[in-house]
Amino acid sequence: MERTAPLVLGIETSCDDTAAAVVDGEGRVLASVVSSQLAAHRPFGGVVPEIASREHLANWPQVATEAFERAGIEPADVEVVAATRGPGLIGCLLVGLSLGRALAWALGRPFLAVHHLEGHLYSPFMAIDGAAAATVPERFIGLVVSGGHTSLYRVDGAAVDTVAETRDDAMGEIFDKVGKRLGLPYPQGPRVDELAELGEPSRCPLPVATCSDGALDFSYSGLKSSTLLAIEALERRGVATDLSMGEPALEVLDLLAGFRKAAVDQVLDRLGRLHGEAPLGVVAVSGGVAANRLLRRALVRWAEAEGVDLRLVPLSLSGDNAAMIAHAALLRHRRGERDDPLSVEAASRLPIGSGHGRQPGVDLDDSAALLSVMDEADDGTPEPTA
Ligand code: KG4
Ligand code: ZN
Repeated sequence: MERTAPLVLGIETSCDDTAAAVVDGEGRVLASVVSSQLAAHRPFGGVVPEIASREHLANWPQVATEAFERAGIEPADVEVVAATRGPGLIGCLLVGLSLGRALAWALGRPFLAVHHLEGHLYSPFMAIDGAAAATVPERFIGLVVSGGHTSLYRVDGAAVDTVAETRDDAMGEIFDKVGKRLGLPYPQGPRVDELAELGEPSRCPLPVATCSDGALDFSYSGLKSSTLLAIEALERRGVATDLSMGEPALEVLDLLAGFRKAAVDQVLDRLGRLHGEAPLGVVAVSGGVAANRLLRRALVRWAEAEGVDLRLVPLSLSGDNAAMIAHAALLRHRRGERDDPLSVEAASRLPIGSGHGRQPGVDLDDSAALLSVMDEADDGTPEPTA
């Protein structure tokens, strides 16, 4: 495969995926390895931070070896080292960041400590199958939809301002919670999406939340509650709702279709209103929920109708991975930025960007989201998020 300097090693260990990747100077993904820890956490019903940190340490040698082998390089060939600095689970971040710092220092290479959400934010410009990444436009709107975030950002050069974020649950989080209520194992989002494809949303319409103060912020806890109430109503009528047993009832499929449509319509509402304020140029969509089939179809239709330049993250890069971290580091490296491998520290809470938007320095805290999910776990054990 064609490759240009510098070769960037990316390391991502912010939650429960141990990931290593090699990206070249044009953002080509030469290797991207993600090792999931789901099996280690499943007996506990959720991500246990202490176990996650230990798993990262145990998994790293194999993950890194595989990444180097797939890229056809030796560790000494790496020219820039990057690792996620935050936000995330602090013990998990420390593993990857310490590995990255040590490697950069030992090899005498530049080091970049990357914001996890910047990794997602720029991932829609990446390509798969060995193609170079697209040029990142100077200005664009970024939508990050994941298990911990539902946020709109305005990117202008190196400045990233938060335009809107969720006031309660994240979009992926409610897909997981609704699926959990129906007896599905974590992560429930992809399966709920699959089942929703089989239902008819108009037979179970659910409300699309808006903020009473007119803000563009998202809110998903109301939709979660109405969906859980609708599940209870089905049960009272004698409909079987446990999806771990047998074929799902048509009523349940319709309910999931209605739920998914309301969740997606909220995204379209916010983008539509933002576009109404001032026409949007490029809109870049990323994060685990960017894999949602209806969301992708609806966004493509909306963008075509409105003349918006839509960039959807490639499916294989939508969930957490290290290639997006290497790519975000490459963008900063091109601007001549670097961090000190001897002093940079991990941060479980980390504000994104340096601009002066409506909410400068807002806390984007994966661990807070994780803890709130844990608090709500109905069986007393932590529930995973990513
Ligand atoms: O970005 P990600 O891998 O991790 C972070 O949260 O940072 O996102 C994971 C989330 C989970 O909540 C998962 O259920 C959700 O993305 N997800 C989906 C789909 N695929 C993954 N939600 C809805 N539809 C999908 N197809
Ligand atoms: Zn993520």
